[in-house]
Amino acid sequence: MMKLWGGRFRKATSKILDEFNASIPFDKELYIEDIEGSIAHSKMLAKQGIITQDEAEKIKEGLLQIKKEIENDEFIFDIADEDIHMAIEKRLIEIIGDTGKKLHTARSRNDQVAVDFRRWVLKRNKEFAKKIKELIEVFVNIAKDHTDTILPGMTHLQHAQPISFAYHMLAYASMFKRDYDRFIESYKRNNINPLGCAALAGTPHPIDRNETTKALGFDKPSINCLDTVSDRDFALEILFNISMLMMHASRISEELIIWSTSEFGFITLSDEYSTGSSIMPQKKNPDVPELIRGKTGRSYGNLIALLTVMKGLPLAYNKDTQEDKEPVFDSVKNALISIEILKETLKTMTVNKENMYKACKKGHLTATDLADYLVKKGIPFREAHHITGRAVALAESKGIDLSDLSLDELKSIDDRIENDLDLSLENSMKSRKSLGGSAPERVKEQIEYFEKFLKESE
Ligand code: ARG
Repeated sequence: MMKLWGGRFRKATSKILDEFNASIPFDKELYIEDIEGSIAHSKMLAKQGIITQDEAEKIKEGLLQIKKEIENDEFIFDIADEDIHMAIEKRLIEIIGDTGKKLHTARSRNDQVAVDFRRWVLKRNKEFAKKIKELIEVFVNIAKDHTDTILPGMTHLQHAQPISFAYHMLAYASMFKRDYDRFIESYKRNNINPLGCAALAGTPHPIDRNETTKALGFDKPSINCLDTVSDRDFALEILFNISMLMMHASRISEELIIWSTSEFGFITLSDEYSTGSSIMPQKKNPDVPELIRGKTGRSYGNLIALLTVMKGLPLAYNKDTQEDKEPVFDSVKNALISIEILKETLKTMTVNKENMYKACKKGHLTATDLADYLVKKGIPFREAHHITGRAVALAESKGIDLSDLSLDELKSIDDRIENDLDLSLENSMKSRKSLGGSAPERVKEQIEYFEKFLKESE
């Protein structure tokens, strides 16, 4: 078929070329941004006297009709039209006639796609920020309910020190807050208008890029057109932000998987967000967190794919860049649903306090407390560490937890130990009052910090 750009061609393109070259099967996702960009562009052309007001009005009406056609599933997406930009322009010419041919004045598909895709990505940055806030709110709410729930804090997945479940949840709130910041910062950094850059070097027409900047909600026009039409940093940033977000989601998923095993039994996932086995009737599987963990790999793949596409490109636009959209669409879709379902899974899980507490009775979790107690009695830490080690060995030989040794037994190890020693889990958790620590007053501060963030951030 003959193309809108077919003037210098004698033969129509081959069918396999059409199939290979086309981005319309996936870039139709950009139709709203494309139509809005074209309306802003034609309005500016009219304001600058490059086309008439009447022509701009006709173009706008035609474009709005196309929007309706797309939304009513009446629009024909033809692979021979190559991409969403050409498909809309061709249809516009069909609807309004020759005036439609003026729309592409002072514009190229290179700045057009840069505008459309950038705006699509910018919107998604905001959508992620909102979703992440909802997730943080769930962590904060769980934290508020579990300031007294004690579980073993771990290092190397080995029991380390008792902490509250609230404290554990707030660690995740902190992690996801960094993700929120990243999406917002990417939005701000990339909210720059490519329109008017044309093919690579601007245009001789007296356009006003500030006008389209305002109309499309950008902060400012870009500085150098050659850079702008080949810049995909905004797409790479969202792919990176998603990869980091998914890495965090994968980490909490991993904990949910471990916690829901019979060995741990710290949580029970709700039936709504669990799945069964096709052969073993008794099974309840954590498919949701497992899939999140799995999809994390895919989001890394998408980031690496686009980084690799970009790495050898000379300035300015190259068709390789068309490969930017599918990884981004895929990562955005998968990560948005992952965060949504993670949120619901957390909201609906049951926290098995007793099992968490029982687990704390294994592994001598308050050993550091004994060492810290001895330090307060004036014993150097290294020596205190050694004495505590002997107390742990004694508890082990008796098959009990350190915290269950009697005062006499402890005194047999070192007679500086007196009855002011409290090796309870509660005391241990409460004693770590240093800034950012696990003590309830510190946890309260952290809850307040996140509540303020949830209230005051956009
Ligand atoms: N479909 C193209 C893309 O997604 C649009 C830009 C085409 N520009 C060009 N000079 N062929 O990258």
